[in-house]
Amino acid sequence: MRRKLIAGNWKMHGNLAQNLAFAQALQQVELPRCDLLICPPFPYLQQMLDLLAPLGIQVGAQDCAQNAAGAYTGEVAASMLADLGVTHVLLGHSERRQYQQESNEQLLLKLQQALAAGLQPIVCVGETLAEREADETETVILSQVTALSEQLQPQQLAQVIWAYEPVWAIGTGLTATPLQAQAVHQLIRNSLCEQLGDQAEQVLLLYGGSVKADNAASLFSMPDIDGGLVGGASLDASQFLAIGQAAEK
Ligand code: PGA
Repeated sequence: MRRKLIAGNWKMHGNLAQNLAFAQALQQVELPRCDLLICPPFPYLQQMLDLLAPLGIQVGAQDCAQNAAGAYTGEVAASMLADLGVTHVLLGHSERRQYQQESNEQLLLKLQQALAAGLQPIVCVGETLAEREADETETVILSQVTALSEQLQPQQLAQVIWAYEPVWAIGTGLTATPLQAQAVHQLIRNSLCEQLGDQAEQVLLLYGGSVKADNAASLFSMPDIDGGLVGGASLDASQFLAIGQAAEK
């Protein structure tokens, strides 16, 4: 039985005061059947670790460097994140693929750094609207997944969480229907199964792209949707909690 995970991707939002108010609103959180994770910007990782760890909420980063250490100004090593107590790292978000031109080659290096540091990577994949309309969704998703999965040892691959985030649904208010999302999640799990066999059943597959309190329950009712990667709605503690409650059902 896979435990659901609700991960909040704060992107470049927040400040000390807002973050504190968010954590205070989660003081009474009681969600025994799902895990919660917040991924704030780098400068707020320590603040959120201090505030959220006592509540049993994990903290993740939004990226890590492709090198272990060295003269790389502005970069943050995976081992530094692990040193702080960060447990997860988002990798390959479509905004990074688009705005930072992150390639699969770079992503693989980051993934290897994250795994070596003992972080659990959440790797994002997703098709654009043009690709969906051209009926290329399956090809695009499989090529994004296998570009990484085929380069990993099975025991490494088993550590990776995948987030299916259709690019056309991110921040747009458009959401994949539960059946559209389930079809892609099943495709990803089947692909992982070729390398992992039965172990692929343990891998968490999150859906992301305008997950809100009112669509979360129907998405999470699908057999291969193991939770959500939530952007906008994760900035609001009550929305985030409501999404967590939907995952409890
Ligand atoms: P959204 O973002 O929930 O605001 O669509 C999701 C994401 O980019 O991870």
